[in-house]
Amino acid sequence: MPSSDTSDLTGVFRTVMRRVASTVTVITAADAKEGLGREHGMTATAVSSLSMDPPALLVCVNQRTLLHDLMLRGPGFCVNVLAHDQSRVSAAFSGSVSPEARFAVGDWRTAENGLRFLADGMASLFCRNTATVPYGTHTIFVGEVVEARQHDAERPLLYQDTRYCRCEPIDAVPA
Ligand SMILES: Cc1cc2nc3c(=O)[nH]c(=O)nc-3n(C[C@H](O)[C@H](O)[C@H](O)COP(=O)(O)O)c2cc1C
Repeated sequence: MPSSDTSDLTGVFRTVMRRVASTVTVITAADAKEGLGREHGMTATAVSSLSMDPPALLVCVNQRTLLHDLMLRGPGFCVNVLAHDQSRVSAAFSGSVSPEARFAVGDWRTAENGLRFLADGMASLFCRNTATVPYGTHTIFVGEVVEARQHDAERPLLYQDTRYCRCEPIDAVPA
C-alpha cells in the first residue's frame, strides 16, 4: 500500500530521496585570495545539468560546510564525476578522511586555474560561478561550464539507499 502519510512529511521525503539513485561527484573549490591556499573537496550527489546553451549545471551545497564558504568566495568550482570503483574517494570526501588529507585519496592534479581535478575519475567539469540562490539549509550554485575533461573511466559510481552501487544496462526494453 503506497504511503501518503503527511504527518511526517520530512521523514517520508527523506526516505523517498534516499531511494532515488544518484551519480556521485566530488566538488572542489579554492580560495580566490592568493596566498591563503585554502582548498577543499566534498562529496555531492545534488548535481544536475541545467542548460546546454550556455552549458551549465547546478549544485546544491549545505550552508554549514566549508565548501559552501569557499564556493561563495571563489570565482569557480570543479565537479568531478566519480568512476564506479571510486567509493573510497567518495567516503574520504564525505568525512572519513580529514579535509587536509583528502587529496591523497585518488589521482588529484591541479589545473592552471588552481582548482583540483580527479584525473582518474570519469570526468571533470570546470565551472564559473554565475548565480547563487539560498534556499532552506542549502544554496543552489549555478555553474557555467568553461572546460570539460573526459577521463578514461566510462561508468559512474551511484549512491542509492545509503549504499554505493554500479549501474547495469538493461539489454532490451520489454515490449
Ligand atoms: C553520497 C553522498 C552524497 C552527498 N551529497 C551532498 C550534496 O549534494 N550536498 C551537500 O551539501 N552535502 C552532500 N553530502 C554530505 C557531504 O559530503 C558531507 O556532509 C561532507 O562531509 C561535508 O562536510 P566536510 O566537507 O566539511 O567534511 C553527501 C554525502 C554523501 C556520502
